Amino acid sequence: MTNAIAVNNPVVETILSRRATKYYDPTVTLSDDQIRELVRIGTTAPTSFHLQNWRFIAVRSPEAKARLHPIAWSQPAITDAAVTFIVVGQLADSSVIPDRLAPVVEAGIMPERLVPEWENPARDLYMEYPQRQRDEAVRTATFGAAAMIYVARSWGLGSTPMIGFDDKAVHLEFGLAEDEVPVMLLSVGAERPGNWRQKPRRPVADVLDFV
Ligand SMILES: Cc1cc2nc3c(=O)[nH]c(=O)nc-3n(C[C@H](O)[C@H](O)[C@H](O)COP(=O)(O)O)c2cc1C
Repeated sequence: MTNAIAVNNPVVETILSRRATKYYDPTVTLSDDQIRELVRIGTTAPTSFHLQNWRFIAVRSPEAKARLHPIAWSQPAITDAAVTFIVVGQLADSSVIPDRLAPVVEAGIMPERLVPEWENPARDLYMEYPQRQRDEAVRTATFGAAAMIYVARSWGLGSTPMIGFDDKAVHLEFGLAEDEVPVMLLSVGAERPGNWRQKPRRPVADVLDFV
């Protein structure tokens, strides 16, 4: 283990300088390719058993924003940010694992014989446990959203994770499947002046236990 803690590297700087954006420049848009790239990089985040049980709905047209705005507490980020993702988590389902691992086998990373060694424990973990399936959907979507937040920041963009929305209405309006949970909204776009800087956090001593 190294004792060197590099405080000033660009990754740390990105993490430290992010804040939840309130004010966006509504004139700045993102291309579909930029949105795709944001999701591509974000989805390199880890997921349990490599389930990748997430989906992202990029609400970026004026028409789609108008559908989301009233069911998201009319938060201005929905209309002003270039895009608001509905970050969807899918209930953990071990039967998708062979499919999800096929490219891993194909890439020569994992031997095929190990696939059941991932699928079987995952079945035991989730199959009979709906709460756990849902917890995993929320964990997965949150990891994905977090990665996208920091990618956005590294591109000089602001972001806002949001729980202020009517989950049932979003589910219905955007045609989510029965096994899908709208975990959070995530707005991304160019900031305009007036945003607060990152707020101070609770002291590490209050949140960290060494054992
Ligand atoms: C799960 C979650 C839900 C949030 N929901 C909202 C929201 O609905 N509207 C909003 O303006 N900010 C929302 N926020 C942003 C928080 O208020 C913000 O991250 C917190 O005040 C800390 O601010 P900072 O990250 O800029 O330091 C949410 C953040 C998280 C992680």
